[in-house]
Amino acid sequence: MKSDLIKRNFLSHKKPQGEITRGKTAPGRLRRTDLLMSLYDPFLFSVNSIVPGYYVDLGYGHTPLTTIESYHYFSSLNQNLIFLGVEIDPVRVRNAQPFTKERLMFRCGGFNLPVNNSEPVRYIRAFNVLRQYHENDVNDAYEMMASYLSPGGIILDGTSNPSGTIWTANIIRKHKAGYKEEALVFSYSGKEEFSPDIFPPYLIKKWIHKMGDESPVRAFFDQFRFSYKQSLMFPGGSKRKFVKSAFYLKEFSNVCCRKRFLNRGYLIWWYPS
Ligand SMILES: C[S@@+](CC[C@H](N)C(=O)[O-])C[C@H]1O[C@@H](n2cnc3c(N)ncnc32)[C@H](O)[C@@H]1O
Repeated sequence: MKSDLIKRNFLSHKKPQGEITRGKTAPGRLRRTDLLMSLYDPFLFSVNSIVPGYYVDLGYGHTPLTTIESYHYFSSLNQNLIFLGVEIDPVRVRNAQPFTKERLMFRCGGFNLPVNNSEPVRYIRAFNVLRQYHENDVNDAYEMMASYLSPGGIILDGTSNPSGTIWTANIIRKHKAGYKEEALVFSYSGKEEFSPDIFPPYLIKKWIHKMGDESPVRAFFDQFRFSYKQSLMFPGGSKRKFVKSAFYLKEFSNVCCRKRFLNRGYLIWWYPS
């Protein structure tokens, strides 16, 4: 049975779109992405979701740790959810096969996902993948990945530090008529000293080269720094400053100040519609 599965996982008529890049990963690195998603769109991952399909971890790296951790995290919430780890490097896919389980598999593929018409996808996490591409490749990659998503499904494209304590991520939602970039999330686990300047080195590829321009993200950071300075008037540690800054930032930007996100270190900035 297992060897059949393995053979099937290597069968793909498509040439994977993308390039093999460094495979660096770490245990627990992407755990906070799953916590965010279970708060942001719990229904998407629930047994009763009207959005069908797999959870895809695209570009899991030299070992499939992150995919296995997500399988364990969400399996306690939904025992029907199927997890697919996708890697463009066939050696990394071969090495992952011993970890295959009934609802957990690994296939070789690229932004054109190695799935067939009877395998819908509800979620694609592409973390620390696009950071190694050229910024001009980002929209094509979004478009290609979105073409596999069921309507209502999400792509999470993010960049993190090595341990995953600081990251930013773009939330992209599939709609019937295409896809839409919905929000940019700033994740701060509370382990480091907080200031808005912890984030720019880990901005997603789409924005990282735009900080010098008159871009919306540059303006956002100016407001974020201003709000942070105001938060310094109050006593309290780094986590409190993160939360306070967000409340001041609300005066200028469409940020989400719900406690369930802020108290867990997630600042969500909704893009203008
Ligand atoms: C830096 S690792 C990230 C590992 C893991 N996602 C993490 O954040 O810890 C990037 C991985 O993405 C893979 N990769 C790059 N482009 C890809 C593509 N288009 N499709 C699938 N995998 C890709 C690389 O081969 C590499 O193993």
